[in-house]
Amino acid sequence: MCGIVGAVGTDDVARAVFEGLERLEYRGYDSAGLALCVEEASGATLEVMKAASAGTSLSELKDRIGTSERRRVRAGIGHTRWATHGAPVLVNAHPHTDCSGRVAIVHNGIIENFRTLRSALVEAGHRFRSETDSEVIAHLLEDALRGAPPDVALASVFAQLSGHMAVVALLADHPDLILAVRRTSPLMAARGRGIEFVASDVPAVLHRATQFFEVPEDEVVVIGGGSADMVAARGLDDLPSPAIDWRSQDVELGGFASFYEMELAFGAEALAQTITSLVDEHGGALMDELALDPYELKRIRKVVVVGAGTSFHAGLVGRFAIEHFARVPVEVDVASEYRYRDPIVDEGTLVIAVSQSGESLDTIVALREAQAAGARAISVTNVVGSQLARIADGVLYTRAGPEVSVASTKTHLAQIAALHLLGLWLGELRGVLFPDEASQRRRELTEVVGAVASVIDARGAIAAALEPLTVRERFFFIGRHVALPVAMEGALKLKELSYLPAEAYAAGELKHGPIAMLDSDAVVIALIPQDRLRAKALGNLEEVKARGAHVVAVCAGEPGRVAELADTVIEVPAVSPLLFPLVGVVPLQVLAGSVATARGLNLDRPRNLAKTVTVE
Ligand code: M6R
Repeated sequence: MCGIVGAVGTDDVARAVFEGLERLEYRGYDSAGLALCVEEASGATLEVMKAASAGTSLSELKDRIGTSERRRVRAGIGHTRWATHGAPVLVNAHPHTDCSGRVAIVHNGIIENFRTLRSALVEAGHRFRSETDSEVIAHLLEDALRGAPPDVALASVFAQLSGHMAVVALLADHPDLILAVRRTSPLMAARGRGIEFVASDVPAVLHRATQFFEVPEDEVVVIGGGSADMVAARGLDDLPSPAIDWRSQDVELGGFASFYEMELAFGAEALAQTITSLVDEHGGALMDELALDPYELKRIRKVVVVGAGTSFHAGLVGRFAIEHFARVPVEVDVASEYRYRDPIVDEGTLVIAVSQSGESLDTIVALREAQAAGARAISVTNVVGSQLARIADGVLYTRAGPEVSVASTKTHLAQIAALHLLGLWLGELRGVLFPDEASQRRRELTEVVGAVASVIDARGAIAAALEPLTVRERFFFIGRHVALPVAMEGALKLKELSYLPAEAYAAGELKHGPIAMLDSDAVVIALIPQDRLRAKALGNLEEVKARGAHVVAVCAGEPGRVAELADTVIEVPAVSPLLFPLVGVVPLQVLAGSVATARGLNLDRPRNLAKTVTVE
């Protein structure tokens, strides 16, 4: 969850580390800190700066870093924290140092055996300053460095730590390098002009890097670094170098007030880029990147989709397309639950892991579990070279560009499109769909981009129409069939941005209990595609209206009687029912942003959340 960045080089390293921190704020805003290796005539020392003031940590650091810039700094590391062990206070902010102050580390993840390690270190005379699990690494390294070169020392320390994590270390005795190592948690390396980087996320260094590198698991990588006698570490040139085509302007706000609003506005572009990369000009499938044997896929007897949060909801939408087009049974599971239900998996199972970041630990673990049981695995991810992209047998990239906002918007649209196209391809492979029909369906998806763009362009008018809801405090989202996951996504967006109670129900299920909660304070938002279930949806609107709830309908096509029953109607284009989620979810993304803004909340800093959840 925490953000990590490190830089080594002749360029302005202190500034580069700070810029990385600014770009990693979405990883955690409990505190921020950095350590710089400052070289003076008397030798090198580590200068550590930390701040843990709500909302102002970075500006505080910016003022302090100004003075360091003028000194000779060739290496530095930085960290933005999402607290797990130890309160979000200054003393727990990273980097953490050893007793001598000559070793500094930043860490992301959880050290499951830290209590045992800490007790032994305290007994041996080490003085701890924080309550974090991370600090043990600095003290272990202090001891290990006495008898080994830095890379060997870090490797031996890392081998003692249980759990999934990434660690970056800065050593005063080696001022021209930093060391990095990871297990499952994300870490990549990069190179720019006169500078090398390590970072938890590509956006941290996108504006300066020209080449990216994958950091392997459980192997120490040296960034920069001429002076030390490396025994076991790999340098950047030994690492795989994926091509990353993100634009640095996509991680800068431009004229928008927040990344949430910016990314919502770019939803149609994200959708179009994803579709273009997966469909050729004749409507044929472009699935080469998937790199899976089509004959193997043909024999699949069951599909399991796993994901978390918004990605899970995309999986729920995707189930309808895959079952409809490929006529293969699809299960969809919350990734964190999947492994614990003792799932039935065999060689006839295809598991699809959906994850924007490709780094959600729950999803990684679920995919690995299924692979170990014999399943073939595909990941649908937005991040080239991410963990899920690497460990799956095949990968389908969404091309939404970098997503910085903690609350996902544009990538959700891209995920739905990717799963829809996967369903069509499986349908073709399995002989359920004629190629012409599949191509026709792909063209239909391509045409929906315009419809989505029209809803996004109307977001000002939608926000105005929904303005009366900004003072409401209790929300229910209902939908049937493919509109149910849209309702779930709408409720999630509202909860995470405005912290208000918002629940989603299958519209037909409401009368089996939840309807008891409805009164005139409640807002019910009904998602209504233009499909064969319209009459049932009308029945549900009657039910909620009769209980006095304030009713909003997000309705595809001509509203007809819906307009008589709903207090407010947001009309979206009448698209084919399976594609309704693409147009239906946008007004809900707008609503969540408007309610949170009206309540004075920062859309890019939702309480208690971090962009990528790398702990179980
Ligand atoms: O990177 P992932 O797609 O794996 O992330 C999964 C969830 O953590 C994520 O979708 C989360 O629910 C978002 N905050 C939703 O807006």
